[in-house]
Amino acid sequence: MTPLVLASMLFTASITFVQCSKDPDSPVPIGVVIQGKEIFRYDTFGDEEFWSGLLHIDKAIAGEKNGGFGPGVSPATALAVGLKVDGEALPAEVITGIKSGAVDLNDPATTLELIKLNAVVGVQGILDDGGNIVSVGITCASCHSTVDNSFAPGIGKRLDGWPNRDLNVGAIISLLIMLSQ
Ligand code: HEC
Repeated sequence: MTPLVLASMLFTASITFVQCSKDPDSPVPIGVVIQGKEIFRYDTFGDEEFWSGLLHIDKAIAGEKNGGFGPGVSPATALAVGLKVDGEALPAEVITGIKSGAVDLNDPATTLELIKLNAVVGVQGILDDGGNIVSVGITCASCHSTVDNSFAPGIGKRLDGWPNRDLNVGAIISLLIMLSQ
């Protein structure tokens, strides 16, 4: 079975579980539903080997000032290419900081912090023991989730299973290729 087939089955299964969980007679334990959601949101299936190992997406996001290369990808740029931010994953001080301007949305270092907070929907940082990002992969949620824009455009509550129609995959890839040259 190829990973994609397996992934599709998992996704379909997780949707079926969610549907079933609304049924009080459902034999599906709620733990399985929660586990499915976690996989959908946060499991990269090891694809950081491609995104970081081959394309060095982590270095391109970080930028030269933060140990990577190129100008880096600020939250503003990430939002501009259609990535979404999970407002509920943001601690209160970060929300206050964004409102006051103390958290700089034009600084790639902020993107790294957001990734560490699991706040960039579908973009998963793999951290070392010291909490530093060693690689970055993507999850099902990057394409199959969006947010309700309740905080700001592109920032809000996660809507799992909604297609992200703003995601400009071509722009993201070209950003990486441009930055890595
Ligand atoms: C890079 C973007 C992207 C990622 C990441 C992604 N998908 Fe998809 N997926 C798509 C697109 C595009 C379609 C086709 C939608 C269509 O044709 O209407 C699709 C279709 C599907 C379908 C079929 C839906 C249907 O109604 O027929 C399933 C199931 C699915 N994806 C599951 C997953 C799972 C599970 C993951 C994570 C392991 C995942 N996808 C990751 C982009 C993505």
